[in-house]
Amino acid sequence: MTDLQLMTLDVNGEEHEVVAESRRTLVDVLRHDLRLTGTHVGCEHGICGACTVLVDDRPVRACLMFAAQAEGTRIRTVESLSQGTGECELSDLQRAFSEHHGLQCGFCTPGFLMLAEGFLAERPDASKEEIREVVAANLCRCTGYQTIVEAIDDCAAARRRAGKEN
Ligand code: FES
Ligand code: FES
Repeated sequence: MTDLQLMTLDVNGEEHEVVAESRRTLVDVLRHDLRLTGTHVGCEHGICGACTVLVDDRPVRACLMFAAQAEGTRIRTVESLSQGTGECELSDLQRAFSEHHGLQCGFCTPGFLMLAEGFLAERPDASKEEIREVVAANLCRCTGYQTIVEAIDDCAAARRRAGKEN
């Protein structure tokens, strides 16, 4: 017996109506129903963090949340980071990852970006040690983490400098 339900999801500032089974995970609906394939799926049981998105500004493992549970929240995926429509219009955080070589295969990168985006919004003054602790929540098999930490720290410092100038 199918258990279809109509849900309204607020994703990247747009409302989407989706008909899905109540047991479908948020990451599944984002990728397959809404075609937002920037969010990746790794372990599917809450370990790797590849599926991290922001729900009401907080990083959440989208493989551990039912899409139906996300109704009434604001969801942000990696697609929300770049501004404009051009491929090169990366956000400051994305640019920092690129400049510091904070990615190799890139599979884990969307999850790290959303983890860092949520963390820096809450803790703009975070120390490098705190950044290091936070990124330990997600798995990357390529970079050794140092470059990811450098990228996030550099982005945080640039945001602080920009905040002082304004
Ligand atoms: S796919 Fe969600 S934590 Fe690994
Ligand atoms: S860049 Fe390959 S897993 Fe992180």
